[in-house]
Amino acid sequence: MASKLRRATAMIHRPRVRSEFGETSDALFLTASFSYASGEEAEPGFAEPGGRYCYTRVGNPTVHALEDRWALLQGTEAAISTASGMAAVQAVLMASLKAGDRLVASQPLFGSCFWLCTDLLPRYGVQVDLVHAGDLDGFARALARPANLVLLETPANPTLDLVDIRAVADLAHAAGAKLVVDDALASPICQRAAEHGADIVVTSATKHADGQGRVLGGLIACDRATRDELLHPFIKHTGPVLSPFNAWVLLKSLETLELRVLRMAESAARIATFLNGRLAPGSVRYPGLPDDPHHDVALRQMLNGGTLLAFRTGGGKEGAFAMLRRLQVIEITNNLGDTRTIVTHPGTTTHGRLSREERVRIGIHDDLVRLSVGLEDADDLIEDLDQALG
Ligand SMILES: Cc1ncc(COP(=O)(O)O)c(C=O)c1O
Repeated sequence: MASKLRRATAMIHRPRVRSEFGETSDALFLTASFSYASGEEAEPGFAEPGGRYCYTRVGNPTVHALEDRWALLQGTEAAISTASGMAAVQAVLMASLKAGDRLVASQPLFGSCFWLCTDLLPRYGVQVDLVHAGDLDGFARALARPANLVLLETPANPTLDLVDIRAVADLAHAAGAKLVVDDALASPICQRAAEHGADIVVTSATKHADGQGRVLGGLIACDRATRDELLHPFIKHTGPVLSPFNAWVLLKSLETLELRVLRMAESAARIATFLNGRLAPGSVRYPGLPDDPHHDVALRQMLNGGTLLAFRTGGGKEGAFAMLRRLQVIEITNNLGDTRTIVTHPGTTTHGRLSREERVRIGIHDDLVRLSVGLEDADDLIEDLDQALG
Protein backbone atom coordinates (compact mmCIF):
# COMPACT_ATOMS: atom_id res chain seq x y z
CA MET A 1 0.00 0.00 0.00
CA ALA A 2 2.70 2.47 1.08
CA SER A 3 4.54 2.36 -2.24
CA LYS A 4 1.28 2.93 -4.11
CA LEU A 5 0.47 6.23 -2.41
CA ARG A 6 0.67 9.23 -4.69
CA ARG A 7 3.22 11.91 -3.87
CA ALA A 8 0.94 14.42 -2.12
CA THR A 9 -0.50 11.67 0.11
CA ALA A 10 2.89 10.12 0.85
CA MET A 11 4.32 13.48 1.94
CA ILE A 12 1.68 13.60 4.70
CA HIS A 13 1.44 9.96 5.72
CA ARG A 14 4.84 8.32 5.00
CA PRO A 15 7.03 7.66 6.88
CA ARG A 16 5.82 8.64 10.35
CA VAL A 17 7.80 9.13 13.53
CA ARG A 18 5.47 8.59 16.47
CA SER A 19 6.09 8.08 20.18
CA GLU A 20 4.05 5.91 22.55
CA PHE A 21 1.68 8.89 23.06
CA GLY A 22 0.34 8.64 19.50
CA GLU A 23 0.71 12.34 18.68
CA THR A 24 -0.71 13.42 15.29
CA SER A 25 2.18 15.68 14.36
CA ASP A 26 5.52 13.89 13.86
CA ALA A 27 7.45 13.48 17.12
CA LEU A 28 10.37 15.81 17.75
CA PHE A 29 13.28 14.06 19.46
CA LEU A 30 15.22 17.17 20.46
CA THR A 31 18.03 15.43 22.27
CA ALA A 32 21.81 15.29 21.89
CA SER A 33 22.12 11.74 23.18
CA PHE A 34 20.12 8.67 24.24
CA SER A 35 20.45 6.86 27.60
CA TYR A 36 20.86 3.17 28.32
CA ALA A 37 19.72 1.00 31.19
CA SER A 38 22.98 -0.96 31.19
CA GLY A 39 26.35 -1.35 29.58
CA GLU A 40 24.99 -4.33 27.65
CA GLU A 41 22.33 -2.07 26.13
CA ALA A 42 24.89 0.62 25.22
CA GLU A 43 27.15 -1.73 23.28
CA PRO A 44 24.91 -2.30 20.21
CA GLY A 45 24.37 1.47 19.90
CA PHE A 46 27.96 1.73 18.79
CA ALA A 47 28.07 -1.43 16.70
CA GLU A 48 27.43 -0.38 13.11
CA PRO A 49 25.28 -0.30 11.16
CA GLY A 50 21.74 -0.13 12.52
CA GLY A 51 22.50 -0.25 16.27
CA ARG A 52 20.09 1.59 18.56
CA TYR A 53 20.13 5.39 18.76
CA CYS A 54 23.06 6.66 20.82
CA TYR A 55 23.96 10.21 19.78
CA THR A 56 22.24 12.67 17.43
CA ARG A 57 25.36 13.31 15.35
CA VAL A 58 25.20 9.62 14.44
CA GLY A 59 21.42 9.33 14.06
CA ASN A 60 18.09 10.64 15.35
CA PRO A 61 14.53 9.36 14.75
CA THR A 62 13.10 12.75 13.67
CA VAL A 63 16.01 13.30 11.29
CA HIS A 64 15.66 9.77 9.92
CA ALA A 65 11.94 10.30 9.21
CA LEU A 66 12.78 13.40 7.18
CA GLU A 67 15.50 11.55 5.26
CA ASP A 68 13.16 8.66 4.44
CA ARG A 69 10.42 11.04 3.29
CA TRP A 70 12.94 12.86 1.12
CA ALA A 71 14.14 9.63 -0.53
CA LEU A 72 10.51 8.85 -1.32
CA LEU A 73 10.09 12.26 -2.91
CA GLN A 74 13.30 12.10 -4.95
CA GLY A 75 12.65 8.49 -6.00
CA THR A 76 15.95 7.18 -4.60
CA GLU A 77 16.78 4.31 -2.27
CA ALA A 78 18.08 6.55 0.48
CA ALA A 79 18.74 10.10 1.62
CA ILE A 80 20.87 11.83 4.24
CA SER A 81 20.59 15.33 5.69
CA THR A 82 23.05 18.06 6.62
CA ALA A 83 23.01 21.37 8.48
CA SER A 84 22.73 23.46 5.29
CA GLY A 85 22.76 23.14 1.52
CA MET A 86 26.44 24.03 1.44
CA ALA A 87 27.23 21.34 4.01
CA ALA A 88 25.52 18.89 1.64
CA VAL A 89 27.53 20.02 -1.40
CA GLN A 90 30.74 20.00 0.63
CA ALA A 91 30.05 16.53 2.05
CA VAL A 92 29.42 15.07 -1.40
CA LEU A 93 32.54 16.65 -2.92
CA MET A 94 34.94 16.01 -0.04
CA ALA A 95 33.73 12.46 0.63
CA SER A 96 33.93 11.53 -3.07
CA LEU A 97 37.19 13.16 -4.20
CA LYS A 98 40.85 12.81 -3.25
CA ALA A 99 44.14 14.32 -4.41
CA GLY A 100 44.77 13.59 -8.08
CA ASP A 101 41.06 13.24 -8.92
CA ARG A 102 39.25 15.29 -11.53
CA LEU A 103 35.92 17.11 -11.19
CA VAL A 104 33.97 18.55 -14.13
CA ALA A 105 31.40 21.16 -13.04
CA SER A 106 28.85 23.28 -14.85
CA GLN A 107 28.90 27.04 -14.83
CA PRO A 108 27.26 29.25 -13.58
CA LEU A 109 27.37 27.85 -10.06
CA PHE A 110 25.99 29.41 -6.87
CA GLY A 111 28.77 31.62 -5.40
CA SER A 112 29.72 29.30 -2.51
CA CYS A 113 29.68 26.22 -4.77
CA PHE A 114 31.97 28.11 -7.15
CA TRP A 115 34.31 28.83 -4.22
CA LEU A 116 34.33 25.16 -3.17
CA CYS A 117 35.18 24.07 -6.72
CA THR A 118 37.71 26.73 -7.67
CA ASP A 119 39.30 27.63 -4.33
CA LEU A 120 38.95 24.78 -1.82
CA LEU A 121 39.23 21.61 -3.95
CA PRO A 122 42.43 22.67 -5.80
CA ARG A 123 44.07 23.17 -2.36
CA TYR A 124 43.55 19.44 -1.81
CA GLY A 125 44.98 18.49 -5.19
CA VAL A 126 41.70 18.03 -7.09
CA GLN A 127 41.68 19.23 -10.69
CA VAL A 128 38.51 21.14 -11.61
CA ASP A 129 37.29 21.92 -15.13
CA LEU A 130 34.29 24.19 -15.65
CA VAL A 131 31.96 23.94 -18.65
CA HIS A 132 29.15 26.37 -19.45
CA ALA A 133 25.70 24.90 -18.71
CA GLY A 134 24.40 25.00 -22.27
CA ASP A 135 27.60 23.78 -23.91
CA LEU A 136 26.96 20.07 -24.49
CA ASP A 137 29.95 19.87 -26.87
CA GLY A 138 32.06 21.33 -24.05
CA PHE A 139 30.89 18.53 -21.73
CA ALA A 140 31.67 15.96 -24.43
CA ARG A 141 35.20 17.38 -24.78
CA ALA A 142 35.76 17.60 -21.01
CA LEU A 143 34.49 14.04 -20.51
CA ALA A 144 36.44 12.51 -23.36
CA ARG A 145 39.11 12.09 -20.65
CA PRO A 146 38.58 10.12 -17.41
CA ALA A 147 36.92 12.01 -14.56
CA ASN A 148 35.80 11.06 -11.06
CA LEU A 149 32.84 13.32 -10.47
CA VAL A 150 30.59 15.66 -12.46
CA LEU A 151 28.65 18.39 -10.65
CA LEU A 152 25.73 20.08 -12.39
CA GLU A 153 23.65 22.94 -11.09
CA THR A 154 20.43 22.94 -13.06
CA PRO A 155 18.63 25.29 -13.20
CA ALA A 156 21.73 27.41 -12.62
CA ASN A 157 21.79 30.17 -10.04
CA PRO A 158 21.23 32.94 -11.09
CA THR A 159 20.91 32.77 -14.88
CA LEU A 160 18.37 29.88 -15.04
CA ASP A 161 20.49 28.12 -17.67
CA LEU A 162 19.71 24.41 -17.83
CA VAL A 163 22.02 21.43 -18.30
CA ASP A 164 20.71 18.38 -20.13
CA ILE A 165 20.96 15.88 -17.25
CA ARG A 166 20.47 12.69 -19.31
CA ALA A 167 23.03 13.69 -21.95
CA VAL A 168 25.68 14.61 -19.36
CA ALA A 169 24.87 11.50 -17.25
CA ASP A 170 25.74 9.31 -20.25
CA LEU A 171 28.98 11.23 -20.87
CA ALA A 172 29.90 11.18 -17.16
CA HIS A 173 29.30 7.45 -16.78
CA ALA A 174 31.32 6.70 -19.94
CA ALA A 175 34.19 8.74 -18.43
CA GLY A 176 34.01 6.73 -15.19
CA ALA A 177 32.46 9.56 -13.18
CA LYS A 178 29.45 9.75 -10.90
CA LEU A 179 26.93 12.48 -11.65
CA VAL A 180 25.87 14.89 -8.90
CA VAL A 181 23.00 17.30 -9.56
CA ASP A 182 22.30 20.31 -7.34
CA ASP A 183 18.56 20.92 -7.75
CA ALA A 184 18.19 23.76 -5.22
CA LEU A 185 16.41 25.97 -7.74
CA ALA A 186 14.00 23.32 -9.02
CA SER A 187 13.07 21.18 -5.99
CA PRO A 188 12.03 17.57 -6.63
CA ILE A 189 8.53 18.80 -7.43
CA CYS A 190 9.73 20.40 -10.68
CA GLN A 191 12.64 18.03 -11.46
CA ARG A 192 13.60 14.57 -10.29
CA ALA A 193 17.20 14.36 -11.43
CA ALA A 194 17.66 10.72 -10.37
CA GLU A 195 15.10 9.71 -13.02
CA HIS A 196 17.35 11.32 -15.65
CA GLY A 197 20.57 9.56 -14.62
CA ALA A 198 21.91 11.51 -11.62
CA ASP A 199 23.65 9.28 -9.06
CA ILE A 200 23.45 11.83 -6.24
CA VAL A 201 21.02 14.74 -5.93
CA VAL A 202 21.92 17.56 -3.50
CA THR A 203 19.31 20.06 -2.40
CA SER A 204 19.39 23.11 -0.18
CA ALA A 205 16.39 22.39 2.05
CA THR A 206 16.59 26.04 3.10
CA LYS A 207 14.86 26.84 -0.19
CA HIS A 208 11.57 25.23 -1.32
CA ALA A 209 11.65 22.34 1.20
CA ASP A 210 11.27 24.72 4.14
CA GLY A 211 9.89 27.35 1.82
CA GLN A 212 9.03 29.71 4.64
CA GLY A 213 12.42 31.28 5.30
CA ARG A 214 12.85 29.72 8.76
CA VAL A 215 15.57 27.08 8.84
CA LEU A 216 18.76 26.05 7.06
CA GLY A 217 19.13 22.47 5.91
CA GLY A 218 20.59 20.23 3.24
CA LEU A 219 19.37 16.94 1.78
CA ILE A 220 21.25 14.40 -0.32
CA ALA A 221 19.38 11.69 -2.23
CA CYS A 222 21.34 8.65 -3.41
CA ASP A 223 21.53 4.88 -3.30
CA ARG A 224 21.88 3.01 0.00
CA ALA A 225 25.55 2.11 -0.50
CA THR A 226 26.53 5.74 -1.20
CA ARG A 227 24.71 6.85 1.94
CA ASP A 228 26.03 4.11 4.23
CA GLU A 229 29.57 3.72 2.96
CA LEU A 230 30.47 7.21 1.67
CA LEU A 231 28.28 9.96 3.10
CA HIS A 232 27.17 8.79 6.54
CA PRO A 233 30.76 8.14 7.77
CA PHE A 234 31.88 11.55 6.45
CA ILE A 235 28.96 13.47 7.96
CA LYS A 236 28.94 11.68 11.31
CA HIS A 237 32.71 12.06 11.83
CA THR A 238 32.98 15.66 10.59
CA GLY A 239 29.73 16.83 12.20
CA PRO A 240 27.62 19.03 9.83
CA VAL A 241 24.41 17.25 10.87
CA LEU A 242 20.89 18.63 10.67
CA SER A 243 19.34 19.67 13.99
CA PRO A 244 16.32 17.49 14.93
CA PHE A 245 14.36 20.71 15.39
CA ASN A 246 15.07 21.78 11.80
CA ALA A 247 14.23 18.25 10.63
CA TRP A 248 10.87 18.52 12.39
CA VAL A 249 10.17 21.90 10.74
CA LEU A 250 11.11 20.40 7.36
CA LEU A 251 8.91 17.32 7.90
CA LYS A 252 5.94 19.66 8.39
CA SER A 253 6.94 21.72 5.34
CA LEU A 254 7.07 18.68 3.06
CA GLU A 255 3.35 18.20 3.71
CA THR A 256 2.67 21.37 1.70
CA LEU A 257 5.67 21.37 -0.67
CA GLU A 258 3.87 20.23 -3.80
CA LEU A 259 1.00 22.64 -3.27
CA ARG A 260 3.34 25.57 -2.74
CA VAL A 261 5.73 24.83 -5.59
CA LEU A 262 3.00 24.21 -8.17
CA ARG A 263 1.29 27.50 -7.29
CA MET A 264 4.59 29.40 -7.30
CA ALA A 265 5.53 27.95 -10.70
CA GLU A 266 2.13 28.92 -12.12
CA SER A 267 2.65 32.52 -10.98
CA ALA A 268 6.27 32.50 -12.22
CA ALA A 269 5.07 31.50 -15.70
CA ARG A 270 2.54 34.37 -15.72
CA ILE A 271 5.13 36.89 -14.56
CA ALA A 272 7.71 35.65 -17.10
CA THR A 273 5.16 36.03 -19.90
CA PHE A 274 4.32 39.55 -18.72
CA LEU A 275 7.99 40.60 -18.50
CA ASN A 276 8.77 39.01 -21.86
CA GLY A 277 6.26 41.36 -23.47
CA ARG A 278 7.32 44.35 -21.35
CA LEU A 279 11.12 44.26 -21.67
CA ALA A 280 13.56 44.33 -24.61
CA PRO A 281 13.65 41.04 -26.57
CA GLY A 282 15.90 38.41 -24.97
CA SER A 283 15.85 40.10 -21.54
CA VAL A 284 13.95 37.38 -19.68
CA ARG A 285 15.25 33.91 -18.78
CA TYR A 286 12.58 31.46 -17.70
CA PRO A 287 12.89 27.81 -18.82
CA GLY A 288 9.11 27.61 -19.21
CA LEU A 289 8.99 30.32 -21.92
CA PRO A 290 8.80 28.78 -25.41
CA ASP A 291 11.43 31.25 -26.67
CA ASP A 292 13.90 30.54 -23.84
CA PRO A 293 17.16 29.08 -25.27
CA HIS A 294 16.88 26.07 -22.91
CA HIS A 295 13.12 25.47 -23.22
CA ASP A 296 13.66 22.16 -25.06
CA VAL A 297 15.74 20.84 -22.14
CA ALA A 298 13.04 22.00 -19.70
CA LEU A 299 10.43 20.03 -21.63
CA ARG A 300 12.55 16.88 -21.29
CA GLN A 301 13.46 17.06 -17.62
CA MET A 302 11.22 19.51 -15.78
CA LEU A 303 7.53 19.34 -14.92
CA ASN A 304 7.17 23.08 -15.59
CA GLY A 305 9.40 26.15 -15.81
CA GLY A 306 10.05 26.33 -12.06
CA THR A 307 9.55 29.12 -9.56
CA LEU A 308 12.42 31.43 -10.50
CA LEU A 309 13.19 33.73 -13.37
CA ALA A 310 15.95 36.16 -14.22
CA PHE A 311 15.68 39.34 -16.24
CA ARG A 312 17.70 42.33 -17.38
CA THR A 313 16.16 45.67 -16.45
CA GLY A 314 18.27 47.68 -18.89
CA GLY A 315 20.37 50.65 -17.71
CA GLY A 316 23.20 48.64 -16.14
CA LYS A 317 23.60 48.30 -12.37
CA GLU A 318 21.94 51.69 -11.79
CA GLY A 319 18.90 50.57 -13.83
CA ALA A 320 18.60 47.42 -11.72
CA PHE A 321 19.07 49.31 -8.44
CA ALA A 322 16.48 51.94 -9.48
CA MET A 323 13.94 49.17 -10.03
CA LEU A 324 14.77 47.59 -6.66
CA ARG A 325 14.26 50.97 -4.93
CA ARG A 326 10.75 51.32 -6.40
CA LEU A 327 9.46 47.85 -5.44
CA GLN A 328 6.67 47.96 -2.86
CA VAL A 329 5.59 44.33 -2.42
CA ILE A 330 8.58 42.28 -3.56
CA GLU A 331 11.39 42.01 -1.00
CA ILE A 332 15.11 42.38 -1.64
CA THR A 333 16.92 39.44 -0.05
CA ASN A 334 19.08 36.51 -1.17
CA ASN A 335 17.02 33.50 -0.20
CA LEU A 336 14.73 31.76 -2.70
CA GLY A 337 11.82 29.32 -2.76
CA ASP A 338 10.04 31.29 0.00
CA THR A 339 6.32 32.08 0.33
CA ARG A 340 7.23 35.73 -0.28
CA THR A 341 8.52 36.92 -3.62
CA ILE A 342 12.19 37.80 -3.45
CA VAL A 343 14.43 39.76 -5.75
CA THR A 344 18.22 39.60 -5.76
CA HIS A 345 20.94 41.48 -7.65
CA PRO A 346 23.41 38.59 -8.06
CA GLY A 347 26.28 40.68 -9.45
CA THR A 348 26.68 42.56 -6.16
CA THR A 349 25.59 39.81 -3.74
CA THR A 350 25.62 36.03 -4.32
CA HIS A 351 28.05 36.27 -7.25
CA GLY A 352 30.00 39.35 -6.18
CA ARG A 353 33.21 37.34 -5.78
CA LEU A 354 33.52 36.82 -9.53
CA SER A 355 35.32 39.45 -11.58
CA ARG A 356 32.99 41.61 -13.67
CA GLU A 357 34.52 40.12 -16.84
CA GLU A 358 33.82 36.56 -15.63
CA ARG A 359 30.28 37.49 -14.58
CA VAL A 360 29.42 38.99 -17.93
CA ARG A 361 30.96 36.03 -19.75
CA ILE A 362 28.54 33.63 -18.05
CA GLY A 363 25.49 35.89 -18.37
CA ILE A 364 25.46 37.69 -14.99
CA HIS A 365 25.12 41.16 -16.46
CA ASP A 366 25.14 44.34 -14.36
CA ASP A 367 21.40 44.81 -14.92
CA LEU A 368 20.44 41.17 -14.24
CA VAL A 369 18.07 40.49 -11.35
CA ARG A 370 16.82 37.12 -10.12
CA LEU A 371 13.22 36.76 -9.01
CA SER A 372 11.99 33.94 -6.79
CA VAL A 373 8.21 33.93 -7.07
CA GLY A 374 6.19 33.36 -3.90
CA LEU A 375 2.59 32.70 -3.00
CA GLU A 376 1.17 36.21 -3.25
CA ASP A 377 -1.51 37.00 -5.84
CA ALA A 378 0.35 37.08 -9.18
CA ASP A 379 -1.57 40.23 -10.23
CA ASP A 380 -0.10 42.16 -7.28
CA LEU A 381 3.38 41.00 -8.25
CA ILE A 382 2.90 41.97 -11.90
CA GLU A 383 1.61 45.42 -10.88
CA ASP A 384 4.57 45.88 -8.52
CA LEU A 385 7.08 44.98 -11.24
CA ASP A 386 5.27 47.11 -13.82
CA GLN A 387 5.43 50.26 -11.66
CA ALA A 388 9.00 49.52 -10.53
CA LEU A 389 10.24 49.16 -14.09
CA GLY A 390 9.01 52.75 -14.70
C1 LIG B 1 22.29 26.18 -6.18
C2 LIG B 1 22.56 26.29 -4.72
N1 LIG B 1 23.24 25.34 -4.08
C3 LIG B 1 23.50 25.41 -2.76
C4 LIG B 1 23.08 26.49 -2.02
C5 LIG B 1 23.43 26.56 -0.57
O1 LIG B 1 22.35 26.34 0.27
P1 LIG B 1 22.35 26.82 1.80
O2 LIG B 1 22.18 28.31 1.77
O3 LIG B 1 21.20 26.08 2.41
O4 LIG B 1 23.64 26.45 2.39
C6 LIG B 1 22.36 27.52 -2.64
C7 LIG B 1 21.93 28.69 -1.87
O5 LIG B 1 21.37 29.64 -2.41
C8 LIG B 1 22.09 27.41 -4.02
O6 LIG B 1 21.42 28.37 -4.68
